Amino acid sequence: MIEAFGLTKTFNEFTAVNELTFSIQSGEIYGLLGPNGSGKSTTMRMLLGLLRPTNGTGRISGHDIQTEIVAAKKVMGYVPEEPTLPERLTGWEYINYVGDIWKIPRGTEREEEIEELLTLLDIRDASNDLIETYSKGMARKTSLVAALIHKPKVLILDEVQAGIDPRGAATIKEILNGLRTRGATILMSTHVLEIAEQMCDRIGIINEGNMIAEGTMTELRVKAQGQNTLEDIFLDLTGGPDMQLIAKYLQNGESN
Ligand SMILES: Nc1ncnc2c1ncn2[C@@H]1O[C@H](COP(=O)(O)OP(=O)(O)OP(=O)(O)O)[C@@H](O)[C@H]1O
Ligand SMILES: [Mg+2]
Repeated sequence: MIEAFGLTKTFNEFTAVNELTFSIQSGEIYGLLGPNGSGKSTTMRMLLGLLRPTNGTGRISGHDIQTEIVAAKKVMGYVPEEPTLPERLTGWEYINYVGDIWKIPRGTEREEEIEELLTLLDIRDASNDLIETYSKGMARKTSLVAALIHKPKVLILDEVQAGIDPRGAATIKEILNGLRTRGATILMSTHVLEIAEQMCDRIGIINEGNMIAEGTMTELRVKAQGQNTLEDIFLDLTGGPDMQLIAKYLQNGESN
């Protein structure tokens, strides 16, 4: 379970996350949506114990993120927005290094499980190459395997599907669905509204650090006065493109 109570982060005078309160149950995938800079990654980093909240707090499987962060970290898996992996290791070495950190016994069982995930994500062959040679998608997939290796009960995935090919994205979706069935709690952010619509049990839309709507797709439709797709709802709540300005820009281009 993930809980946030009035979670707030200010950087100097700027409020990046403003009194967010939400909870995500075991067996639930929760999608955090919002425009660039709305506070999604900052919220996640606070829940992960990587950033100290200015106010408020959170609990991961009942462990307070400020006073019991070690216990909280043990049950969490995280794929950051921009994974920074050790470039001079191979993918295989890195994942096994993470396995050692979690004290997962070395041996056939661990190796088979890693190989299974690597194969599923089409990076088994590449796992013998140095990470410095990886494409963005390969690095993200490697980061996901490393995040799953200690079988976390709580997963925090910051745009995990970004830059992933369709087969990889479909595989990730199936893996996450399976983990949800087994009782995992999953918090994910994405800009791909289709993914959110298909995968998430509930969605929270944040704008400028504030939760502006939260609920199931059905509940959000009601809130956005019957708007049908998540894109319509999202644009209705956070503001759509400035058509006048776009027309002006395109008109200026025409005269050249
Ligand atoms: N360390 C920092 N110092 C100052 N400002 C920060 C810091 N980290 C984040 N911010 C600001 O906080 C706001 C929220 O950033 P955040 O990265 O959480 O947004 P986001 O919703 O994840 O955006 P994106 O969709 O682009 O990933 C932004 O305005 C950002 O500039
Ligand atoms: Mg972000």
